[in-house]
Amino acid sequence: MNTTPVVELTEALALNLSGLPADAAQALSETLLTIAQACAAISEVAAQGALAGAHGLASSSNSQGEDQKKLDVMADDVLSAAMAACPHVAGWASEEHEMPFVSDEHGNQGRYLVVFDPLDGSSNIEANISVGTIFSVLPHPYRGTTPGEMGFLQPGQQQVAAGYVLYGPCTVMVLTCRQGVQMFTLDRSSLRGEGPARWVLTQSEVRIPVATREFAINASNQRFWEKPVQRYVAECIAGESGPRHKDFNMRWVASMVAEVHRIMTRGGVFMYPRDEREPRKAGRLRHMYEASPMALLVEQAGGRAVNGTHDLLEVVPDTLHQRVPVLLGSKEEIDRIVSYHADPHENVSWQLFKTRSLFVQPQA
Ligand code: F6P
Ligand code: MN
Repeated sequence: MNTTPVVELTEALALNLSGLPADAAQALSETLLTIAQACAAISEVAAQGALAGAHGLASSSNSQGEDQKKLDVMADDVLSAAMAACPHVAGWASEEHEMPFVSDEHGNQGRYLVVFDPLDGSSNIEANISVGTIFSVLPHPYRGTTPGEMGFLQPGQQQVAAGYVLYGPCTVMVLTCRQGVQMFTLDRSSLRGEGPARWVLTQSEVRIPVATREFAINASNQRFWEKPVQRYVAECIAGESGPRHKDFNMRWVASMVAEVHRIMTRGGVFMYPRDEREPRKAGRLRHMYEASPMALLVEQAGGRAVNGTHDLLEVVPDTLHQRVPVLLGSKEEIDRIVSYHADPHENVSWQLFKTRSLFVQPQA
């Protein structure tokens, strides 16, 4: 008989946040429960697929001028409505909108700013491959006034919580409140009832193995990569007979949430490096709602996340939708990649990242 006690999200949050003052703990817990409830609703629509009218293109484009999928729009609507109703959220920003939103009712007094990618990997929807939601919770730095775009431009180190929800064969939420990383599985039977969705703790201390023999990169961009990444990947591919003296395996799902989840469960390296395709774009992934929350999760699980030369959590974004190179995963491999970037022979042509913050230390 299995006698392991079942721990639900509310209870796990109470334990995780017990070091905070009671009002801050309650506010953060309620904010995260609101996000979790919205993601349970997105999971329902994603699972119904074509039956919920969730497949295909919407007749609109997002903040970057990219075509939106119907599920992108649906997921964004669900999360935006949840944020507007949450008394602790002063404002929020989404990949789908150029400008952030200020909460009508709670813009002055809400403690938090929430940033999200409502549906990551949406090119995979019709192929029925996993997609996800990524979210980041930041302190509202100028409480008492409504937040403008500047208030959102905080380095990842300031996040009070971050997480993702993976809509795969089962729906899982991987969450950090800066006390390690925990994994929760959505009990789908709870969605048939009237009450809130039930998220059950299924892994209490997620740790990324420090060593790995698996890497993920979109190899079709190889001709555009900078030298340190060329070298790293070439050495992995050379395998047993190369300088690493071991064989590597490669994966590419094209859903960042799925790639990071694989790394959370068995280690590995994920790279979307800076490349020379469009020099004005520093990589493909967005700093605030892709790189930064994933970096906090990975670091909290004992891994490392960098832009090549600096830890991603130190990078201060200039704009809401800024792109950034992302290299993350098992620590030994990321340390190696950073050492290649630091090698003067590798000829890295860019070092222009701001890493100092004007903001105060993280607070809940
Ligand atoms: O959101 C950006 C994203 O879809 C990530 O989820 C994924 O890792 C990447 O882009 C896929 O990029 P590509 O289309 O180059 O494979
Ligand atoms: Mn995305």
